Amino acid sequence: MPEQDIRREKDAPLRHDIRTLGNALGQAIQRHGGHSVFETVERLRTNSKRLRDCAERLSEAPPAEAVQIHNEIEALDQEIVQIVEGCDLATAIDVIRAFTMYFHLVNTAEQYHRIRRRRAHEGGPQRGSLASLIEFFKKNNLTTDTLQQLLDELSIELVFTAHPTEATRRSLITKSNRVAELLEAYDHKEQMTAREQLHWQHQLEGTIDLLWRTDAVRRVRPQPIDEIKMGIYYLDDILFDAIPDLYQEFDELLHEAYPGLTIPPFLRLGSWIGGDQDGNPFVGPDTMFTALRLQREHAIKHYRDSIEALAQEYSQSLNHAHISPALRTSIEHDAASMPEYDRELGAQTALEPYRRKLSFMWKRLEGTLTYTQPADMYAGSPLLAANREAQGTSIAAYHSADELLHDLRLVYHSLLEDGEIALAEGALTRLIRQVEVFGFYFVGLDVRQHSERHAAALAELLRVTGLRSDDYMTLNEEERLHILENLLRDPRILTRPGLPLSADTWHILNTFHAVKRAREEFGPRAVTCYIISMSHTLSDLLEVQFFCKEAGIDDLPIVPLFETIDDLNDCTKILEQAFTHPDYHLYLANCCQQQQVMLGYSDSSKDGGILTSGWELYKAQLRLAELGRKYNVGITMFHGRGGAIGRGGGPIYEAILGQPPNTVNGHLRITEQGEMLSFKYGLHEIAIRNMELVVTGVVQASVPDQHIIETRVHPYASEEWVQIMEQLSASAHARYRALIYNDPTFINFFEQATPILEIGWLNIGSRPARRTRGRSIEDLRAIPWVFSWMQSRYVLPSWYGVGGALEAFVNEHPERLTQLQQMYRQWPFLRAFLDNLQMTLSKADMLIANHYASLVDDEALRQRISQAIQEEYERTHRMVTAIVGGKELLDTSPVLQQSIRRRNPYVDPLSYFQMVLLRRLRALGGPLMLDKEAELEASEEDLERTRLTYAVLLTINGIAAGLRNTG
Ligand code: PGA
Repeated sequence: MPEQDIRREKDAPLRHDIRTLGNALGQAIQRHGGHSVFETVERLRTNSKRLRDCAERLSEAPPAEAVQIHNEIEALDQEIVQIVEGCDLATAIDVIRAFTMYFHLVNTAEQYHRIRRRRAHEGGPQRGSLASLIEFFKKNNLTTDTLQQLLDELSIELVFTAHPTEATRRSLITKSNRVAELLEAYDHKEQMTAREQLHWQHQLEGTIDLLWRTDAVRRVRPQPIDEIKMGIYYLDDILFDAIPDLYQEFDELLHEAYPGLTIPPFLRLGSWIGGDQDGNPFVGPDTMFTALRLQREHAIKHYRDSIEALAQEYSQSLNHAHISPALRTSIEHDAASMPEYDRELGAQTALEPYRRKLSFMWKRLEGTLTYTQPADMYAGSPLLAANREAQGTSIAAYHSADELLHDLRLVYHSLLEDGEIALAEGALTRLIRQVEVFGFYFVGLDVRQHSERHAAALAELLRVTGLRSDDYMTLNEEERLHILENLLRDPRILTRPGLPLSADTWHILNTFHAVKRAREEFGPRAVTCYIISMSHTLSDLLEVQFFCKEAGIDDLPIVPLFETIDDLNDCTKILEQAFTHPDYHLYLANCCQQQQVMLGYSDSSKDGGILTSGWELYKAQLRLAELGRKYNVGITMFHGRGGAIGRGGGPIYEAILGQPPNTVNGHLRITEQGEMLSFKYGLHEIAIRNMELVVTGVVQASVPDQHIIETRVHPYASEEWVQIMEQLSASAHARYRALIYNDPTFINFFEQATPILEIGWLNIGSRPARRTRGRSIEDLRAIPWVFSWMQSRYVLPSWYGVGGALEAFVNEHPERLTQLQQMYRQWPFLRAFLDNLQMTLSKADMLIANHYASLVDDEALRQRISQAIQEEYERTHRMVTAIVGGKELLDTSPVLQQSIRRRNPYVDPLSYFQMVLLRRLRALGGPLMLDKEAELEASEEDLERTRLTYAVLLTINGIAAGLRNTG
């Protein structure tokens, strides 16, 4: 069968699901929104579709036809604008909601279809699957010993953050998950009775009705506690089970091929939620404790439930079974330390040792839940709650997850000794795995703060304690280092209760004390590391080392985050200074000679453009790995990447294989954030799929060269390729900087041609959009930067500058095109980069973007900049297609191409609405959100502004759902 037909057949169930859901939505709209909404939706959809068809025909049309197609496009464009402008606001709101809901349903259908495809692959390994990994091992004749060594050194951590890019409310996400369950049920419809089918239909209608009637816009800004609960939702509902399932699958597959291997807990989760203080005044020591406490409660509740279920199941009687002497001793010990509870258990369990042991364990976990809350270290500090609770030392409790593991393993070995292998390998093994991975804290927290804040706090502390009369902030690096060395070598502690310090400085000091207490209370892994945003120098690290010393911490990993082009360039220099600095050297020894380095994708891309950022990140990793080898320090790269390409997003498996050789070395941390949590972890099997892609990628990228015989996934870049990249990067950087930073009027264009000023009203995260109050692009955080360009369909941060650089390079020698084509085929780094570019260029749309440009009031500015962007887009489109091959973008990724094509005619109406509504809203003075009470006394104009703001926010949500990327 031709490939196209095979694909059509594979996609048939997806198309069917989308039709079913689309029809159900149509009926809900008719039921609740009325006929005119439905009709407007249909007219817009048909016209957008025709417009898209014309645009596609245009790309292949001979010049004679092109003029006519152009005219058609213009007429359709005008017609859409007229329909949109002709809608009254109430109808507009419902129409926007209709398109948005459609995307939620399509997203769900596509997600479920991924699960379907994964299941269908069980016969042969799917790309990046664990089964394909085993095949890779075999092809390369890897021995059990090599594999065991690889596994023992493996450490992968997926770190969830609360970055404000999830525009969809949780109420909608959970209902979408319900829809996915219904789709799954429908796949087995032949097994349903007629009654069950009717029941299914009613459930679908009911869920879609609820979706339709749920407000997509958050009225209030979430607090950190809401974000903490959101994180726990994923842990509780998905990951607590998905992670052991993944381990089990790996275990089974590996054992078939390599019996005797043991799989250590190499895959863990981390979190920033409640710990990421950078630029978020609402996150501090208190939120860190709230997160850890809640996480512990949830983890332990899971363990208690599982232990209770095991206790019910394990009814073996001593009359018919034996237990190990170690287990017997431990039960006796428990009974002696919990005599009352032992009596409660009664005579029946006396003969049922497993049940008895598990009951004691269940009870001891109850004791673990009684914890100490940290007291305020310093009087006058408002930041730590001073409410000390009873310490649960008098009651029996597990004080660490290791103690619980010890007991679980006693039960496990006793079962094995008694020949109950199947029982031991079932739910009990799964629980052991869960405790190994989640401990008593569920996920370890990272704490993050900006380098400037540490410097400012230290400056104040030095001044207030009278240690320095000059201002630390104005000193150069050498002078700072001198002071820091003295401080680090001085045994005295500077901080004293009652010092007249600002709240900001207390915040920093209290944070370190809270970290110390949290590690004592929840275990050393509960706070994983301390990250310094915008690290530029060695003093940034030593300042944090000083604050650790003040709090009595000597082994908390200190992690610099390098996130500008200059800092990526300098990062090895800074770390070499650190590794050879006597004080940091000692500290590093306490951290087992392990140094984590965080690499910032979004900020470096915002700073220097996508190509330069990608290339500098690549080179930095090579140099860092080299530095690690030179100083015998284990380096773990922590990749801080978002969902959108402009923030380092893109398919993860390809991204890992695109890393430079010998840099992964079995260690990887990576952020998972915002909308990516629901896309990648919203459904159990999707979560497993995403995690297996990471595991497979990391393991494949970590197999030492000498073991690779057949499947070379990680080739070295030749010197020639490096030189080409250097040239391309310099040229793309210059182009990017010229437009974004060197043209002082560009900011005016940006503010008017994108919804940047309106996005702040979206209430999607607890932190403000800017770290400081400035208006410049430098001051803006990377998320709103990428987000706003995504909305206006320029999607500029993910491609601008690349086309010009490629074209200039090829124009010098035409045969260079062949060279680039060869590099694309042979070099995973360039392949991943250009494939991401294809995706992002397909999401961009210059016809729509031009409408946004029309919002810029200065005509000369509008002309100049929109023309520059448009031309660069065309260049990039042309060059990328020429290198990648195929007639159209994404010809090499037909599934993605189809998905984007399917969505575009539905995204376009939302874009037209956004643009028209922005114009109206700005004419009235910009966004305003009155609450219900204020609305009673508001002027008609303010009411209109509030309604328009609401409608604009709805369009932002809708476009984000349609493009499947926020920012
Ligand atoms: P940050 O994140 O602003 O929190 O450093 C940047 C990003 O992820 O885009």
